[in-house]
Amino acid sequence: TVLVVDYGAQYAQLIARRVREADVYSEIVPATTPVSEIVAREPAAVILSGGPASVYAEGAPALDPALFEAGIPVFGMCYGFQAMARALGGEVAPDGTREYGRTEVTLTGTPGTLHEGLPRTHPVWMSHGDSVTAAPEGFTVTASTDRVAVAAFEDTERRLAGVQYHPEVGHSPHGQEVLRRFLHDVAGITPGWTTASIIDETVEAIRAQVGDGRAICGLSGGVDSAVAAALVQRAIGDRLTCVFVDHGLMRSGEREQVEKDFVAATGATLHVAEAADRFLGALAGVTDPEQKRKIIGREFIRVFETATAEVVADHHVGFLVQGTLYPDVVESGGVDGSGNNTAVIKSHHNVGGLPDDIEFDLVEPLRALFKDEVRSVGAELGLPEVIVGRQPFPGPGLGIRIIGEVTRDRLETLRAADAIAREELTAAGLDREIWQCPVVLLADVRSVGVQGDGRTYGHPIVLRPVSSEDAMTADWTRLPYEVVERISTRITNEVSEVNRVVIDVTSKPPGTIEWE
Ligand code: XMP
Repeated sequence: TVLVVDYGAQYAQLIARRVREADVYSEIVPATTPVSEIVAREPAAVILSGGPASVYAEGAPALDPALFEAGIPVFGMCYGFQAMARALGGEVAPDGTREYGRTEVTLTGTPGTLHEGLPRTHPVWMSHGDSVTAAPEGFTVTASTDRVAVAAFEDTERRLAGVQYHPEVGHSPHGQEVLRRFLHDVAGITPGWTTASIIDETVEAIRAQVGDGRAICGLSGGVDSAVAAALVQRAIGDRLTCVFVDHGLMRSGEREQVEKDFVAATGATLHVAEAADRFLGALAGVTDPEQKRKIIGREFIRVFETATAEVVADHHVGFLVQGTLYPDVVESGGVDGSGNNTAVIKSHHNVGGLPDDIEFDLVEPLRALFKDEVRSVGAELGLPEVIVGRQPFPGPGLGIRIIGEVTRDRLETLRAADAIAREELTAAGLDREIWQCPVVLLADVRSVGVQGDGRTYGHPIVLRPVSSEDAMTADWTRLPYEVVERISTRITNEVSEVNRVVIDVTSKPPGTIEWE
């Protein structure tokens, strides 16, 4: 394991992902972790991340020099580079030598192991205030910039190295190569973290945890629950039962995807709880978005509970499978962090939440994985691209994409329009560029139109294509006009209640991605 010490900027998770892309397993630990604890975990290497502070700022996370007495390979980046220089007796000047953004580094006479063979001058991404003015004793300076003399150093004997820039970001085109060289060549780690090894290790761990017990898993139609279920299925076979709640608010083809594609790919036993009537009944007459969400959430939990109780009635089921991912875990203290089998169930009701009166142990096979790893594991396990490549879709489904009361007819209208938009966006090869594209029916708005010889008085459909990294912020995607035109023409021709198609050109903030 490579431990990434998080100095509190946004970079630690990205670094951890990049390490894994170099086929080496990594975890993140907070900067407050005592060196004794780090050493006790016998890491293959330690990476000191960037961070927002100046090493001279009051309360700046200190680096205990004891780390360097343990013989562990260490790589410092940005703040970590400066903290390392300082802890080892180099000089860091609080001289306000600032470099932000794209900067050219120049390799010195001895490019060393990290930069050997790279272009003598190449762009990197910088973001720092202070600068290292003298490398610690025993280190070779291997790169500089116009403004800083020491932009990289290494002491390969002691397996220590650092760079002032951010090798983990895409704006440092040789960054991944430099990170690889540190891991493989300086630290001497044999790469072995691959999709196949993830599957083997996870399956083994599930078997050890569940023994000859039984498990249930709530499927949402999304990537995480599908891959979690597929892993558990591989580990314990038909002692896993999957429960899928059909609330009638799915998009066209989604239930079939779970019923056919998922089952075909995994051989899992699937229990479908048919509940569309119940949800539509509960939603009748309701137009307030929050009320809709609450009703859908409440009904979901009840249906999931009832279905689960039915499954449990036949056998003793001791385990509930959850698709918790590593980024959720980092915040709550690490993969094997403090007493964590009682993890909080996400408030989003994809999985429904735990029935109060039934005690389960949680099985969380994705606890150590990032989303991209989950997708590769899913693909390797034979799940189809429509499942592993799926864009985010909200738990309350189309219920929050009909502005106004949710009825069966309106759902049908929206489903038809949504299917056309998805089909055309996929055909245009835009699925990767677009984070997601909600299609919204303004059910309480009508406008006048003309079709054929007649006047129409129909509803508008809103396309809401967004680009995003994490859904916290988003920008509206500039769709090619030809694609917009095709979607508009097809929807107004093929979906009878709709006579206008409009595009939402609002970023988030101020808008949210969904309309409700
Ligand atoms: P907003 O609309 O808040 O959405 O910008 C951010 C992201 O979250 C998704 N979303 C949900 N996902 N259950 C979910 O699982 C929900 O209740 C829910 N509400 C919004 C939304 O699609 C977007 O990706």
